[in-house]
Amino acid sequence: MAGMRTFALPGTSLTASNVIAGMMRIQDMTPEAVRAMTKTALDAGINFFDHADVYGRPLHACEAHWAQSVKLTPTQRQGLIIQTKAGIVPSGPYFDFSKEHIIEAAEGSLKALATDYIDILLLHRPDALVEPEEVAAAFNQLEAQGKVRYFGVSNHTPGQIELLKTAVTQPLVVNQVQLSITHAPLVAHGVAANMQDLAQSVSRDVGLLDYCRLHHITLQAWSPFQHGFFDGSFLGDRERCPELNDVIDGLAAKYQVPAIAIATAWITRHPAQMQVVLGTTNTERIAGAAQGSDLPLTRAEWYALYRAAGYLVP
Ligand SMILES: NC(=O)c1ccc[n+]([C@@H]2O[C@H](COP(=O)([O-])OP(=O)(O)OC[C@H]3O[C@@H](n4cnc5c(N)ncnc54)[C@H](OP(=O)(O)O)[C@@H]3O)[C@@H](O)[C@H]2O)c1
Repeated sequence: MAGMRTFALPGTSLTASNVIAGMMRIQDMTPEAVRAMTKTALDAGINFFDHADVYGRPLHACEAHWAQSVKLTPTQRQGLIIQTKAGIVPSGPYFDFSKEHIIEAAEGSLKALATDYIDILLLHRPDALVEPEEVAAAFNQLEAQGKVRYFGVSNHTPGQIELLKTAVTQPLVVNQVQLSITHAPLVAHGVAANMQDLAQSVSRDVGLLDYCRLHHITLQAWSPFQHGFFDGSFLGDRERCPELNDVIDGLAAKYQVPAIAIATAWITRHPAQMQVVLGTTNTERIAGAAQGSDLPLTRAEWYALYRAAGYLVP
């Protein structure tokens, strides 16, 4: 069985697992279940935990539930990478990248997470009213106070990142975006570039994958097992994805891993060194997904999954 792959996260001094435990769905779990989920992740070699101020209700609920359930010792804390996000105002809803909002959100996360520092703070979704100088002022203050070590973005285009860089001096080390075998415009448009009659060939992110590779920004894949936007997993869904599940099950049998490991490996196999952000709260699925961290799908297998999901190889 393949172990957990770790790598030096470009732009940081962090050594990160390429599978991340996402904490968006833990609100209704018991503290025991949150502890079991965390232990399963750690035992599988996952050292990276993804949070956001807006996970759970009220604000910071999932961050606080996790911290209160796992009660990390200082040594345990040092061994982990804790990432969280700011910039969404759910009561609007709207986005707010003002200095005041970013700092208030980060302070709230520090308190909820019961930690002195956040390893990586992401801007959660692009704010149409972004003023790069405001973001820079917030990042500079949080960095100078030792409250945030590294910064990144989520759901951002290359142009939006370049705009931030006109004022932000810290490297933007991460961009977290939606990616699964069945939701792969990030990858698929480039494979069918410039084909006039094909929807797949439309670039929905303005060339983000190549941009991130060129600029050493690590992509993190959220909803790695969802069919589309929060509409259920494609895994085992023979109604919507019979062919894809046939290919996944065949490869799972070949490699002697659960199906979820193959879905994970489709992302980790990509040479962009992407990370997979798991959302499952189920310990068996977490352990199963971790088995896809370093599973070396061949080119033919990777493309067979891609074609079975409905994407064209022209
Ligand atoms: N940056 C952003 O904008 C953004 C947006 C969304 C999410 N995220 C992050 O990404 C993480 C993952 O998102 P996600 O939860 O949508 O991703 P996911 O891992 O693709 O989906 C997990 C969900 O699918 C369910 N599921 C049903 N059958 C499954 C199966 N056979 N295998 C695996 N899961 C199955 C899980 O239920 P069980 O729990 O019962 O297994 C869980 O509710 C979140 O926790 C969060 O950290 C970021």
